[in-house]
Amino acid sequence: MSGQSAHRPVLLKEAVDALTVQPGGIYLDGTFGRGGHSREILKRLGAEGRLIVLDRDPEAHAAALALAKSDSRVAVHRAAFSGLERIVGEAGVSGRVNGVLLDIGVSSAQLDDPRRGFSFTRSGPLDMRMDPETGESAAAWLMQAPEQDIAAVIHEYGEERHARRIAKAIITARAEAPLTDTLQLAEIVSRAVPRHDRFKHPATRSFQAIRIFINRELEELGSCLQQCLRVLAPAGRLVVISFHSLEDRVVKRFMRDHSRLPAPDPKAPWLEPEGKPLLRVVGKAVQAGEAEVALNPRARSAVLRVAEKLP
Ligand SMILES: C[S@@+](CC[C@H](N)C(=O)[O-])C[C@H]1O[C@@H](n2cnc3c(N)ncnc32)[C@H](O)[C@@H]1O
Repeated sequence: MSGQSAHRPVLLKEAVDALTVQPGGIYLDGTFGRGGHSREILKRLGAEGRLIVLDRDPEAHAAALALAKSDSRVAVHRAAFSGLERIVGEAGVSGRVNGVLLDIGVSSAQLDDPRRGFSFTRSGPLDMRMDPETGESAAAWLMQAPEQDIAAVIHEYGEERHARRIAKAIITARAEAPLTDTLQLAEIVSRAVPRHDRFKHPATRSFQAIRIFINRELEELGSCLQQCLRVLAPAGRLVVISFHSLEDRVVKRFMRDHSRLPAPDPKAPWLEPEGKPLLRVVGKAVQAGEAEVALNPRARSAVLRVAEKLP
């Protein structure tokens, strides 16, 4: 789910250590948020180093601009991951980036502000867009999507067993009154879920699913990882923190698939497969320790994976 609570970046030391920051290097933080990881990178970067930061959220962008004002090593872009390669190209450093950090998902700033529409415990407009100026809000989508599409999203991205019941309840409710508020949706979902878990709000999975769908989070992540392969310098590091199993699966498979030789052609198994691995997986997946989770419960689900681009 979220990246950090208030100003507490997750796996800060582990992630920035994994970038192996060289004082004169070029780094990219694809998920600036409130800049916790970026500030740590800057501490380790020399005067000649460069840090390119990206975020599609307007408030994160404003925070990044404020940082860039006082630090000329920082270049800021308001963009989605899908713009990464273009931005790096325009900066003239394609193939020369020494490390990319991605701390994916929503930020605490987004989750905790009811006006952004991510919260199922506080009333706010049913929006859920990281970039409220792009695409369709959750309300707009839920008001017109076919029942089977809503059920498929909640099932696939929320891994929710009761997806069909929930979708049916949404269709019934929207015929009675427009869906506009986060608490209204949370209530519809809660009533549709037959048994409630003591430790988890019944709308957790559905909200996660709708958010992932609205922000095209998995597609964005897949495209971003491919672009990272092209912008990284040889021996450049790709460092990714994910917050739920769907994201982590994408990252794990990507790193695994690009660190192996292509499979032999089953029709000609005697031929050497063409191509070579593009990445080397560095170490094992890292999770937050007990001390960090005690301070920041949102770190519990974080998984850090690291790979290095091969020459
Ligand atoms: C978990 S927060 C990052 C927190 C940050 N590392 C810090 O220390 O403050 C994730 C950030 O990534 C941004 N984000 C997520 N997906 C994105 C995408 N596809 N394109 C651009 N920004 C994205 C979100 O808007 C959010 O601000």
